[in-house]
Amino acid sequence: MKKKNLFLALLLLISFTGVTGKTISNAQIQEQKIASLLKKMTLEEKVGMLHANSKFYVDGVKRLGIPGLALSDGPHGVRAEMNLHDWNYAGWTNDSATCFPPGTALAASWNRALAYQRGIVLGEEARFRKKDVLLGPGVNIIRTPLCGRNFEYLSEDPFLVAEMAVPYIQALQSKDVSASVKHFLANNQEDHRTSIDVSVSERALHEIYLPAFKAAVMQGGSHTVMVAYNKFRGDWCSENEYLDREILRNELGFKGILMTDWGATHSTVKAALAGLDLEMGTEKKDYNDWYFAQPLINAVKEGKVPVAVVDEKVANILRVMLETKMLDEKSREKGKINTPEHQKAAYQSAAEAAVLLRNENHLLPIDFSRLKSVAIIGDNATRKHCSGGLSSEIKTIYEVTPLEAMQKKFGSKLKINFAQGYEKQSVFHDGNNSGQSNSDKVDWKLIDEAVKTAAASDVAILFCGLNHDFDTESFDRQNMKLPYGQETLIREVAKVNPRTVVVIIAGSPVELAGIANRVPALLWTWYGGMEAGNAAVDLLSGTVNPSGKLPFTLPVSLEQSPAHALGNFPGREGKVNYEEDILVGYRWFDTKKITPQYPFGFGLSYTTFELSATTADQKVYHTKDLIRIKFNLKNSGSIYGAEVVQLYVSHPGSAVLRPTKELKGFEKSFLQSGETKTVEISLRVSDLAYYNEAAKGWKLEPGEYLLQLATSSADMLQTIKIVVE
Ligand code: BGC
Repeated sequence: MKKKNLFLALLLLISFTGVTGKTISNAQIQEQKIASLLKKMTLEEKVGMLHANSKFYVDGVKRLGIPGLALSDGPHGVRAEMNLHDWNYAGWTNDSATCFPPGTALAASWNRALAYQRGIVLGEEARFRKKDVLLGPGVNIIRTPLCGRNFEYLSEDPFLVAEMAVPYIQALQSKDVSASVKHFLANNQEDHRTSIDVSVSERALHEIYLPAFKAAVMQGGSHTVMVAYNKFRGDWCSENEYLDREILRNELGFKGILMTDWGATHSTVKAALAGLDLEMGTEKKDYNDWYFAQPLINAVKEGKVPVAVVDEKVANILRVMLETKMLDEKSREKGKINTPEHQKAAYQSAAEAAVLLRNENHLLPIDFSRLKSVAIIGDNATRKHCSGGLSSEIKTIYEVTPLEAMQKKFGSKLKINFAQGYEKQSVFHDGNNSGQSNSDKVDWKLIDEAVKTAAASDVAILFCGLNHDFDTESFDRQNMKLPYGQETLIREVAKVNPRTVVVIIAGSPVELAGIANRVPALLWTWYGGMEAGNAAVDLLSGTVNPSGKLPFTLPVSLEQSPAHALGNFPGREGKVNYEEDILVGYRWFDTKKITPQYPFGFGLSYTTFELSATTADQKVYHTKDLIRIKFNLKNSGSIYGAEVVQLYVSHPGSAVLRPTKELKGFEKSFLQSGETKTVEISLRVSDLAYYNEAAKGWKLEPGEYLLQLATSSADMLQTIKIVVE
């Protein structure tokens, strides 16, 4: 080694070893940096970092080279720039972004790689827009079909939510942007979200509501967590010692920033001691009056909050800054925006999300080249959805509607007859009252016109469902019905055209009982983001084979759904009790033997699959073992496609109530026609445990367990018995 190189190597070695000569880890170096910065800061400077200085920005300490934080919504695209001090958009011309299909659509793809891809795109776009924290993903459990924010969340099943959230977070953060997993915890309804007090058992907390947050923090390494608006067992989530200190910090080992939702702080001392780090969105004009501003300085001076507690908060913020290279801008990800690759990712996400619910006599896919005419009917054929939903709304540079895509792809070859069919009658009001009332009027003039159009066309395609007057932050839906008289419209059209296809565009369950058996084909395409129309038309024409699976149960009616069957939604006198306990979603339907309209995990394909040769690697397992299930999956049909094989676990001999079955694994496989693949799904024996309240921990019961491979929670293909000792 040359002399100069030797010197450099020595220098490097010295900088990585302490006075004792022992190697210092990167984490130790980081903690030393944090400690040294803290030493140089005044109390005022520290507290300055603990509350916002505008809607989405937080101060740093310029004199020490500590930058401020820039935060932005949201989960499926980087939101346009807002004014600093009000909720209006700033009117920039360079803040359009890629718009992905929202959360339920991501979960419906059951494809972890797509979650990762989305994280990468969001990270690159957030960096291009100079953001440090992107406020998502939203991982609250879909407890009721009515929650206005279901579309942003992912699923009724904690395992599926966790499996999608982890790669999303890891990818996003690999681009030097922090995720903010939200809303911690039990924000499962929008009605009364800022006041409701949620009561839930320890078991349901650990088995249903916590796992996604746990995975986001422990596996995903989420740098920030956003506390929910609501109360949990009597205390606001923003000052909830049990949730914030005991569970999040102590049990999950969270070392990042715990921030409030916008306006969710209610105290200074209690919140500070409970572990809250950052106050956002408080509705007080003077930022100095916020709970974590002058009042916190006073509380420290009065001895009510130890300086060490303030230091802990600043350290959490500095740690996140170091993790995302904020103190070293030169080496930080620069990002890019609206690239063709990003748009392709949005398209893939839409195409893989669609769930084929019904396809009698193989009506789909449609060979448009053999048609002379097609009727395109419904408000959702022309409606753009990216800019709706409130905090998750995206200003996108384009959004392709289904009608536009039809015209572009087939307009020169066949006659496209458009009919409005139904009209949007609601108006979105931000705040307390939704525009949903009076939205069931049947407009016979529009229906008659649509019927005529359908009768005169070879095929009728109705684009129906909801819009963001319903699927939105701030309030819940009033019922599960298709609004604006759509059910009548669909029935009337189906009467005159036997080749009627219904495409549902919605982010949460809608009642299909009145139409499901009256139309031959039903395809659920969600809100499809900027590429919605292209994806929908490619699915209808067979360019893409549907491979999505429902991430929630579609009940026949609302009354079937657990929270509603038990009368525990939206609560009474400011309180809601999650009486259904662990029986959320399909866990309820299965255990109570209720047949839904379509089960969780369900979705058809244009091809067929066969599963064979299922084996477990052992018959008897012990606590620390990994269970490896292998099987062969064959595409037995004639076209390329993908199947999601799901692994459900049952413990019939349990001493306690267990759901009839629970999802513990899944794998999506893409296969050419005739191709066979060997697929492996593994799970840990410890994943078979239930949460025992008396022992305050997970309990693994010995005995026989059933592992079932399935194509939905109601379609079991193969069962394997194993024994746990
Ligand atoms: C929402 C959050 C969002 C925040 C900032 C709140 O109303 O609940 O999810 O990130 O606003 O827009």
